[in-house]
Amino acid sequence: MLQQGHMFLEEDMERCEIPTVALASGQHIPILGLGMSHIGGYSHNALLHALRNCGINHIDTAKRYGNEAQVGKAIAESGVKREELWITTKLWPGDYGYQNAMQACLDSSKRLGLEYLDLYLMHWPDAHTPGKSAREVRAETWQALVDLYRRGVCRSIGVSNFLVHHLEQLKEDCSVVPHLNQVEFHPFQRPQELMDYCRRNNIVFGGYCPLAKGQALTHPVIQQLAKSYGRTPAQICIRWSIQNGAITIPKSTKEERIEENCKVFDFHLEEEDMERISSLQCNTKLIHLSYPLWRGRGHS
Ligand SMILES: NC(=O)c1ccc[n+]([C@@H]2O[C@H](COP(=O)([O-])OP(=O)(O)OC[C@H]3O[C@@H](n4cnc5c(N)ncnc54)[C@H](OP(=O)(O)O)[C@@H]3O)[C@@H](O)[C@H]2O)c1
Repeated sequence: MLQQGHMFLEEDMERCEIPTVALASGQHIPILGLGMSHIGGYSHNALLHALRNCGINHIDTAKRYGNEAQVGKAIAESGVKREELWITTKLWPGDYGYQNAMQACLDSSKRLGLEYLDLYLMHWPDAHTPGKSAREVRAETWQALVDLYRRGVCRSIGVSNFLVHHLEQLKEDCSVVPHLNQVEFHPFQRPQELMDYCRRNNIVFGGYCPLAKGQALTHPVIQQLAKSYGRTPAQICIRWSIQNGAITIPKSTKEERIEENCKVFDFHLEEEDMERISSLQCNTKLIHLSYPLWRGRGHS
């Protein structure tokens, strides 16, 4: 187990296959997981292969992705013991508000076939309830997550896509600080101020889209580094994210790519190469809440 912010050393990689990071809840999240998505399909066989053969025990899903029941089926079929798994799912803004959030969590757990969730996240900071400010809705929704955490239904709780001011408001309004904030993080998007804020406030930094949805894989710097390390572009991007201490969840529906994406613990990027990748930062965001997703309760 490693403290976040610790720069991974070779000996760490040799000690354990997938290192974990400690959360303020006392739980330990594997630094590498497998992402799920509502776009780009879902593969039952690929998920089973990840769980059975690749050492993956951390799955990142969401109600929004519409595959919680399928993930639950794969988990059951994999034969992997519950205590060896880390399952994250997310609360959609259409389910914000205290009672709705409580019910949505129980529904997600049921679809996943789990008695408890390892991590439950508020998916977006945006919240639209007539007569209430977004800040009020976030606070009452977060209170539901705190109560679910206290009851043990969720072993850790957090948020996603929250900026510094959202986190500051939550800190003022509520008694428990999120254990993790999951945001977009790849060579073209490195929100340093947010990362520093999370570190100072003991909020673990989770990254998503580590491959920039595949777009980083054709960048000349990534390709050149892949060549010089004898690795693939995807492995370079995933390794960079992990060496930054970010929880990293590449998504693939292809068995061979999942295998490739897991082989990142037997090499180390030199500091100057880390910096070369970091210098690609151009504040490109691939994920936007560009339409009123919060209106639907389902997974439209
Ligand atoms: N919290 C949020 O708001 C939020 C938003 C977006 C994503 N996420 C999470 O983050 C996860 C990852 O994000 P993402 O799927 O958007 O982007 P990503 O992981 O950066 O990229 C996934 C894309 O890269 C391809 N790919 C994967 N491995 C590859 C490899 N080794 N070589 C070449 N191509 C490869 C995949 O295609 P194939 O599937 O065909 O292999 C897919 O098209 C999601 O699954 C989800 O769990 C969270």
